[in-house]
Amino acid sequence: MSSVAGHYGLPDLLSTILNALEAQGKSLDNLTADDLAAIDEFHIRGREATVELAEMSEVRNNSKVLDVGSGLGGSTRFLAAEFGCRIVGVDITPEYCETAQALSKLVGLEQLTEFHCASALEMPFEDATFDLAWTQHVQMNIADKPGFYREIARVLRPGGRFAFHDILAGPGGPPHFPVHWAGVPEMSFLIAPHDLLALLERSGFRVLTWRDTTAISREWFLAALQRRQESGAPPLGLHLLLGDTAADKFANVGRNLSEDRITVFQGVLEKTG
Ligand SMILES: C[S@@+](CC[C@H](N)C(=O)[O-])C[C@H]1O[C@@H](n2cnc3c(N)ncnc32)[C@H](O)[C@@H]1O
Repeated sequence: MSSVAGHYGLPDLLSTILNALEAQGKSLDNLTADDLAAIDEFHIRGREATVELAEMSEVRNNSKVLDVGSGLGGSTRFLAAEFGCRIVGVDITPEYCETAQALSKLVGLEQLTEFHCASALEMPFEDATFDLAWTQHVQMNIADKPGFYREIARVLRPGGRFAFHDILAGPGGPPHFPVHWAGVPEMSFLIAPHDLLALLERSGFRVLTWRDTTAISREWFLAALQRRQESGAPPLGLHLLLGDTAADKFANVGRNLSEDRITVFQGVLEKTG
């Protein structure tokens, strides 16, 4: 098991989620993809950021889409439900892939979504398979950034699009740990925005949209932290994925955003050639 899978993997994840849904008053017999958004959108600004990225990406109902580092499959199911397109998720954490598959079945999206347990650095797909490759909050776990973007470019058809929503390095110095993507600094590989832009251009991409969302991400995250302090955690929430150090991880992400130690960017690029 990779140390990344060790960091994210949790025993009994599906039952934990189902119990939390019931505690929230949801009936498991008629759940929709929206009911899962509090836990399966594992990135800053949750569903809101996913909706924005989908609008920027111009997804169509016949698009073949790949979600790289799909986690519990929240964005995968959102895109399938919203656009009716077929979408494939890839993730290195086996418990996430199994749970993602089960959640898709639970909300009736198993025909449009599928999940493969594999590394983003070596994906089990032919060259030029996809129209759109999508990733949110994954590359901060990946040291080999040229390899990551090369592999994404490989599976995209020429003219295909790459959409990302990611945590990048900030000017304020290294982050405080633990954070949700890494318990220790050795698991975190943040790249500065201008270095990412140069790397993507070298990897065969042309920028269509490039957006610094740090300010709105900070505002959103600090408001969520405050709600949590005032009212406590709701039954269904990302704390269920963060283990015993959930409170420290939330506090450190807030601090890192406030001290400009991390930035948050979204972008859509086109594969040239
Ligand atoms: C913070 S979660 C984000 C999940 C999902 N993209 C989302 O936004 O809800 C990071 C995910 O990246 C996956 N991941 C990290 N490194 C990976 C790699 N080398 N290959 C595939 N998945 C990876 C983890 O297993 C985890 O599911």
